[in-house]
Amino acid sequence: MGKVKTSFFCQNCGHEAPKWLGRCPSCGEWNTFVEEVVTKSKKEVTAFSKSSKKQSRPQAIHTIESREEDRILLKDNELNRVLGGGLVPGSLILFGGEPGIGKSTLLLQMSMQELNQKILYVSGEESENQIKMRAERIGSLNENCFLLTETSLESIFIHAEHLAPSMLIIDSIQTLHSEQIESSPGSVSQVRECTAQLLRFAKQTETPVFLIGHITKEGALAGPKVLEHMVDAVLQFEGDRNHVYRLLRSIKNRFGSTNELGIYEMLGNGLREVENPSEILISDTIDSMSGVTIGATLEGMRPMLIEVQALVSTAAYGTPQRSATGFDLRRMNMLLAVMEKRCGFKLGAKDVFLNIAGGIKVNDPAIDLAVVAAILSSNADIAIEKNICHSAEVGLSGEIRPVNRIDQRISEAEKLGFEKIIISKNNKGIQQKNYKIEIVECLRIEEVLRALFG
Ligand code: TYD
Ligand code: MG
Repeated sequence: MGKVKTSFFCQNCGHEAPKWLGRCPSCGEWNTFVEEVVTKSKKEVTAFSKSSKKQSRPQAIHTIESREEDRILLKDNELNRVLGGGLVPGSLILFGGEPGIGKSTLLLQMSMQELNQKILYVSGEESENQIKMRAERIGSLNENCFLLTETSLESIFIHAEHLAPSMLIIDSIQTLHSEQIESSPGSVSQVRECTAQLLRFAKQTETPVFLIGHITKEGALAGPKVLEHMVDAVLQFEGDRNHVYRLLRSIKNRFGSTNELGIYEMLGNGLREVENPSEILISDTIDSMSGVTIGATLEGMRPMLIEVQALVSTAAYGTPQRSATGFDLRRMNMLLAVMEKRCGFKLGAKDVFLNIAGGIKVNDPAIDLAVVAAILSSNADIAIEKNICHSAEVGLSGEIRPVNRIDQRISEAEKLGFEKIIISKNNKGIQQKNYKIEIVECLRIEEVLRALFG
């Protein structure tokens, strides 16, 4: 028996230190160090060692076969898109998200759809029966999908070598443990070791591996943050649990762009791919209402038209309330200050509530103008016509600023039947004759007001 070796790990970023520290020197978080046993078992073998190891040797770059065309095209187009055009063999993909958001559902659904792939779905969280019930709810069962409820990495590798699946799904990385590390499942050293071994498995057998990982709101749970640099791609599943829409974002991708976005709708029988996001994000109110208008934004590469709702009312008590859902509150306060200072609207004593419909969070500055228009419309209690949309940033001096990919936004608005779009005059190369939709170019908020309310 050797001496038990322990080390302290930051549970936020995985930084290792020989003694306890109050503040992590790497990520700056306080009180995140936890002692973990790190002794590896005597025999320094990796759990995945049996298979014929390919000897690596240096190769001239032009002699290496490029195998771009080998990508596995999945049935799920949203997933294909986010992965950068299909699944690359041998890639290790981390699938993160808060608990209950639908990670297991999405990957189980994929397992049921891929009839030509032999899939091994390993769950450390649910029983076979539970998973089967869920799979039946989602759709027809795939005979090529195998379920395994196991948390020992060594046993998983034994089964994987025996079964030789063409895809491996691990639900979740936090439940796995390897015999070589003595700390408990979910601890940083355990999660890191298991991922390293799964990475080796993926590369040596060319099997794509999906790892599900939980992240809390603060990103505090051991794991996913630590793993980001080890895996080939990090996909994040997000959304508001009280809403039906879910966004699948690519945060890191060695095989494609990180600008891609997948959109799903959570239904009673699984997740539905949403091909045309704009249609679902705009409510079908019969009459135009004050305080509601549409902004043309871009999520990743996809243009989307989003409904912005504002409510401005006189503050009943001393301090006015400001609240924003799906939009940065500080940015809203800034826009309010611009309207107050540059355009003379007295909003200082008003409660202002802002909501982006559909539970979507928007970071695109192009939504600014729609936010300003919605607030002013609610303030004056004059409705904005339903066939108008906006796409521009608003600067600190009240100027209307250009945004990127304006042509894409205009085309999307035109496609959805809008008749007028308000943009900045400083967008280059936009010609009215190329579009059927009327393009109104403005430089100042006052001009926008004139265009909206006459
Ligand atoms: P789940 O995939 O278990 O979340 P995660 O693995 O990310 O923790 O999803 C759980 C939620 O999804 C649960 O609250 C119920 C809901 N759900 C549906 O609405 N429809 C469905 O068809 C399924 C399978 C789940
Ligand atoms: Mg789950």
